[in-house]
Amino acid sequence: MSRKLFLKSFGCQMNDRDAERITGLMRREGYETTEVLEEADVVVVHTCSIRQKAEEKAYGLLGRTRALRQKNPGLQVAIGGCVAQQQGAELMERNLLLDVVFGTHQIRRLPELLEEARRKQRSIVRTEYDYDPDRLEGPLFWESTGDGRAAPTSALVTVQEGCNKSCTYCVVPRTKGAELCRPSSAILDEVRRLVERGVQEIVLIGQTVNSYGKDGSADISFPDLLRKCSNVEGVGRIRFATSYPPDVTEALAAAMAECEPVCEHLHLPVQSGSSRVLAAMNRGYSRGAYLEKVRLLRSAMPDLALSTDIIVGFPGETEEDFSLTLDLVQAVGYDQIYGFCYSKRPGTQAPRMEGHIPDEVKKERLVRLFEAAKRVSMENNSKWIGRDVEVLIEGPSPDGERMQGRTRWNRLVHTAGAGISAGDWASVRVERISPQSLIGQALRVAAPLCGIQPVAGRHCHPGAA
Ligand code: 5AD
Repeated sequence: MSRKLFLKSFGCQMNDRDAERITGLMRREGYETTEVLEEADVVVVHTCSIRQKAEEKAYGLLGRTRALRQKNPGLQVAIGGCVAQQQGAELMERNLLLDVVFGTHQIRRLPELLEEARRKQRSIVRTEYDYDPDRLEGPLFWESTGDGRAAPTSALVTVQEGCNKSCTYCVVPRTKGAELCRPSSAILDEVRRLVERGVQEIVLIGQTVNSYGKDGSADISFPDLLRKCSNVEGVGRIRFATSYPPDVTEALAAAMAECEPVCEHLHLPVQSGSSRVLAAMNRGYSRGAYLEKVRLLRSAMPDLALSTDIIVGFPGETEEDFSLTLDLVQAVGYDQIYGFCYSKRPGTQAPRMEGHIPDEVKKERLVRLFEAAKRVSMENNSKWIGRDVEVLIEGPSPDGERMQGRTRWNRLVHTAGAGISAGDWASVRVERISPQSLIGQALRVAAPLCGIQPVAGRHCHPGAA
């Protein structure tokens, strides 16, 4: 009987992609996957440390594996991801009973580390950085034999990993290391393989994806990478995340506007609407400079939808600073906002700053941020009522009764599910809205790979000039 892997991954899209690689590697070693923790022979916890809460979730799961050892003495537990990278051997001292601690750059060695731990009957810790771009390669998990999983509708493709910026709140440069770009030939080869397998949408990912090639370490520029990916025959849609505002250029806006598969949506984290707070965060731009980037993008794509990340309660943030953030939310008209209370992270500069904000104030600001976000997204969504939108269907809605997918502008759409499958392209007439989604009836449905000719053209955005 083959050994079973239970894998739980927390955090960002980079971690999601890494989790796919871990699954692919382990399947290559003959493992089967299980969703039931109690059935596992190997448990891999792939961690996130962006905020304190994310870190705690991983410890909760590791705690549960302790009891399992009594029933299955051969059980192996491995911890990877950002917590593993940052804490390394210290994790052993927490008495979590770990067999392997593997850092963010050591994923491809996981099978051999598990083997070594078994052979030597002791714990293994590997957290060195590794700047060989080959470490970003890996099996696509659904290509591994016998899995039986269909190709996903939308697939993540790593183009860059790590971060050379130094935002004072952020732990990522310490956990993922410095920026490493993947050669364009490897990226394009993966995109082609995905499209051949029936993937409809490609999401190019990196911590600061639009900084790709800026330091001269890639063979082409990011705008040219977008062009090349767009030219891969059969690609339906292309998205990319996450973008760093100072690296938004005219060349990027032009490439987005010019490439038909590239969607009219950009996730552009602003973090704060106050130049004073942005300076303390060391974000490398002011409020005015950010708004200028938005103007530049929208002059190339008048219907561009924007989403963002915002931190409330950064040390020293006054009520006036916060009201500038609320004002910016309105001014930009974001379709979606991911808001977070500032959380102290080890090894970063912000914990040493003056003016830490009490938790109650942070929470109250977050509530007000979400109220503002809801008002703006309702305003944006209301423009869609009565319109037909092209929806790439991703799968069943959480209620199990409808199907859901996204518009090119990244708006979630729910529609009655009869006769619709994941990967289909549906033309949906919008009847109702919620802050997060559009709800309507599918009028026409086209099978996968017909996405090359969108059923509702890109110029049907009601907000377009
Ligand atoms: N506290 C709160 N939020 C944070 N983020 C990053 N670091 C912190 C922190 N220390 C948020 C930022 C980032 C998103 C992924 O997480 O908004 O864009």
